[in-house]
Amino acid sequence: KIIVLDFGSQYNQLITRRIREFGIYSELLSHKLSAAEIKAMKPKGIIFSGGPNSVYDQGAFQVDPAIFKLGIPILGICYGMQLMAHELAGGKVENAANKEYGKAVIQVKDSQAKLFRDLPEQQTVWMSHGDLVTQVPTGFKVLATSENCPISAMADDQRKFYGIQFHAEVRNTEYGNDVLRHFAFDICQARDNWSMDDFIELQIEKIRETVGDKKVLLGLSGGVDSSVVGVLLHKAIGKQLTSIFVDHGLLRKGEVEQVMDSLKGKFGLNIIQVDARERFMKKLTGVADPEKKRKIIGNEFIRVFDDEAAKLDGIDFLAQGTLYTDVIESGTDTAQKIKSHHNVGGLPEDVQFQLIEPLRTLFKDEVRELGERLGMPSALVWRQPFPGPGLGIRVIGEITEEKLQIVRDSDYILRDEIAKHGLEREIWQYFTVLPGIRSVGVMGDGRTYDYTVGIRAVTSIDGMTADFAQIPWDVLQEISVRIVDEVAHVNRVVYDITSKPPATIEWE
Ligand code: XMP
Repeated sequence: KIIVLDFGSQYNQLITRRIREFGIYSELLSHKLSAAEIKAMKPKGIIFSGGPNSVYDQGAFQVDPAIFKLGIPILGICYGMQLMAHELAGGKVENAANKEYGKAVIQVKDSQAKLFRDLPEQQTVWMSHGDLVTQVPTGFKVLATSENCPISAMADDQRKFYGIQFHAEVRNTEYGNDVLRHFAFDICQARDNWSMDDFIELQIEKIRETVGDKKVLLGLSGGVDSSVVGVLLHKAIGKQLTSIFVDHGLLRKGEVEQVMDSLKGKFGLNIIQVDARERFMKKLTGVADPEKKRKIIGNEFIRVFDDEAAKLDGIDFLAQGTLYTDVIESGTDTAQKIKSHHNVGGLPEDVQFQLIEPLRTLFKDEVRELGERLGMPSALVWRQPFPGPGLGIRVIGEITEEKLQIVRDSDYILRDEIAKHGLEREIWQYFTVLPGIRSVGVMGDGRTYDYTVGIRAVTSIDGMTADFAQIPWDVLQEISVRIVDEVAHVNRVVYDITSKPPATIEWE
């Protein structure tokens, strides 16, 4: 494996990502690790990430200087390169006269350079720095230069230390992937033998070691992440895992059955299904404001979960489906480890859980791959995102059972048609909403005065921005006909053709 030491760059996850894409296991770890700890991990190479600091800042992130004595190849990126120049004898870092943010062109000076083997002499790279290396440490030579950064890359082939001022991990760096590939394969001699199966083995081992003979609790939402955690933990510790699945009455048609059938039925998870439908409806009756609805649903959820957890005895761990992308802080100090003393909601003060987050180092698509490797059904693994407040924010305004039924039934038809036409993977998210307006229609020979259903379908990468999906007209027509025919009290269907921004994906 190749480890990445974290100095706080916003791109640091990407470095691990790129290395893993080569089939080499990579992890982002704290820069505070000692050289001895690193040595014990036996990495083939070490990458110092970039970071927002200047090496001259007070409290600037540092490394254990003994790292340079381990004989392990090191690549410093941006701040990582500066740190290297600062720490090693003979090097010098200065504040740049021209700070660089964005694209730059570098000129490769050394045609023999291992990092740039077989690459063009001129390359577009992505720079983002205030400081720069003005003098390479003893034993290093300059590999590349740019207009504003005379030392854009440096190398000491003897000690296998390399530095690049640009960010090789971002797509805007034309040959960034090649540079990383050269470091990983040619210089570190790492082999591409890592796979998701290894990850599963490793995690199972870790979970067993951590949990011992104690008990773990998991809150299942029915979404991809918590389901995958459930199956993984079950594989590792079997009956020591108890899951709680709260049915708040705002789930989609067939969802409760699907989750229970596959996770409890097929995989044998021990799931406590809590029917909290009445509890939620009671709290929501008469509330029309979207924000209030969201708050009520969120709070009630925690209450129900706590109530159920309190009935259980001797739980020591709480499992969560936290993903790499959720790990916002440069808190890699705790990655892969367990955070202790996490006190959950309304439980008595002296009841304390430790947290288990086995997906903490994975990206969403890796979680899906993991799910597939664990033998989970595609319907569960490839589930579209579904908000915590569920259908509660898809009935616009006050929620009633009748309105929920309309959304649930129309949503089911929409999902069915999208699946029939093989559009599930193309469209990122698709659902129906009930705006609550009524309009006049004609059915048979009679006048109707009934609800309008809205169809929302978007393409997106991360949900932050989105375009309305261009579902073919004939498919839309089939959906519309079916919804009006099959769902009581609906006489009109409209299609939402706004993107995000200016609209949001959900209507509330
Ligand atoms: P918006 O409507 O903000 O939604 O464009 C962006 C994405 O987030 C989902 N979403 C939520 N997910 N809890 C969640 O777990 C929530 O409260 C929530 N609200 C919106 C939404 O479905 C879309 O995928």
